[in-house]
Amino acid sequence: MKKIGLFTSGGDSPGMNACIRAVVRSAIYHNVSVVGIMRGYVGLISGEMMSMDIGSVSNIIQQGGTILKTARSKEFRTKEGREAAAQNIKKWGIDGLVAIGGDGTFRGASDFNEEHGIPIIGVPGTIDNDIRGTDFTIGYDTAINTALDSIDRIRDTAASHDRIFFIEVMGRHTGFIALDVGVAGGAEYILIPEVMTDIDKVSQLLLHGIQRGKNSSIVIVAEGDEEGGAYKIAEMVKEKTGIDYRVTILGHIQRGGSPTVRDRVLASKLGAGAVELLIEGVSGVMVGEINNKMEPTPLENIWDGKKEIDKNLIRLAEMLSI
Ligand code: F6P
Repeated sequence: MKKIGLFTSGGDSPGMNACIRAVVRSAIYHNVSVVGIMRGYVGLISGEMMSMDIGSVSNIIQQGGTILKTARSKEFRTKEGREAAAQNIKKWGIDGLVAIGGDGTFRGASDFNEEHGIPIIGVPGTIDNDIRGTDFTIGYDTAINTALDSIDRIRDTAASHDRIFFIEVMGRHTGFIALDVGVAGGAEYILIPEVMTDIDKVSQLLLHGIQRGKNSSIVIVAEGDEEGGAYKIAEMVKEKTGIDYRVTILGHIQRGGSPTVRDRVLASKLGAGAVELLIEGVSGVMVGEINNKMEPTPLENIWDGKKEIDKNLIRLAEMLSI
């Protein structure tokens, strides 16, 4: 392994830069050079690449986003797109790839690996934490802390005005963010796609709260909840109860910002881990961390089923929100 190609793909997440830094520095430490590929698979196809040295990753560990930029590429889903990418890999003399991203990124990586035999290691980077094979994804810890900070602020207003707030958080098709920030933010109700939403139950709980003099409440809604977004759910509750409400959609605020300690450390470990796996001749896996131990998982196992949400936390949330 003489030269590694590195890119970020899918939604950006805080800690991607710390991971880029770890890949570049650990590779150079092992006498392997690094080529940075811009905008994920888009740059792999167009050939927008550059050599990276130690200085190119200075002063980025604390920055959110990704200096390599990111994109979602439709072209890479075609055989022709992947063929063009393989040509660029050859042109640049790249012997292996590190792909930082979510499960869409890994599906592309797996196809590419199968068709062109280019060694690839995936690193889980997404705020959603919806990737199997790792306890946490890079960016998740920062995102939940950012969301929680906003929820705490909204609670001040909810309490001052005796209001019910429905706050929508990201998470794509999963409720990891919603469940964690709901418990940490003392939400009265948490709606996630993993649990069937019962509008009657939400309504009863809020009414019960009002009857016992609790006039402000926070309902956390995961964007992927099957009943629809926070506006729709709030309106359904209003129809049943007559309770007035306010809605806040936290949106992309959750994606940016300086990564937390946990995200920087995780990103550093996984970035260096990916390089070392490539050097050892491993390929077609994602490197994750399970119970504090680095674990490789074959790429195809990543999307072969859904990552389980913590059932005990769901129970705890119910117990504490009465
Ligand atoms: O995967 C990260 C994520 O922020 C999801 O939580 C969200 O559903 C999606 O990306 C939003 O994507 P976009 O930035 O393309 O609107």
